[in-house]
Amino acid sequence: MRAALTFAIVLAAGPALAADGAQLFADQCGACHSLAEASSDTGPTLKGIFWSKVAGRGDFAYSGALKTLGGSWSPSRLDAFLKDTQTLVPGSSMYVVVEDENDRKAILTYLKAAR
Ligand code: HEC
Repeated sequence: MRAALTFAIVLAAGPALAADGAQLFADQCGACHSLAEASSDTGPTLKGIFWSKVAGRGDFAYSGALKTLGGSWSPSRLDAFLKDTQTLVPGSSMYVVVEDENDRKAILTYLKAAR
C-alpha cells in the first residue's frame, strides 16, 4: 500500500522534478552523502531514508543530538531538517540547509524515487 502510494506521489510530481532533484542532490549533498549501501566517513547513506529510523545506520557515527531525536523520517520531518537542521536538531553535525522550498521538494522527490 505504501509503495503504491509513494509511486503515485512520485508520478504526480513528475519526472522533471526528480531530474532537478538528482542534480541538486549531486551539487548540495553529494560531497557527504550517497545512495550506496554503506555510509561514508562524511555522511550516512541516504538509501531508503524515507520512513527509516532517525540516526538508524549502524555504520555511521551520528551526533548525540540526532540520536536523541528518536522516531522516523516522515516527509515533513525531512523537509524541516533540510530547511534548518539546527532548529529541528540543535547540535546536529549537519549544517547544510536548503532554503528554497522548491529545491527541497525536488531533492526529496529524488530521494523518494531513488530508494
Ligand atoms: C558537509 C557534509 C554534509 C552535506 C553537504 C549534507 N549532509 Fe546530510 N548529514 C551530514 C552529517 C554529518 C549527518 C549526520 C548528522 C548528525 O549526526 O547530527 C547528516 C545527516 C543527514 C540526514 C539524516 C540521516 C539519518 O540517517 O538519520 C539526512 C536525511 C540528510 N543528512 C540529508 C541531507 C541532504 C538531502 C543534503 C543535501 C541538501 C545533505 N544532507 C547535505 C553531512 C552532510
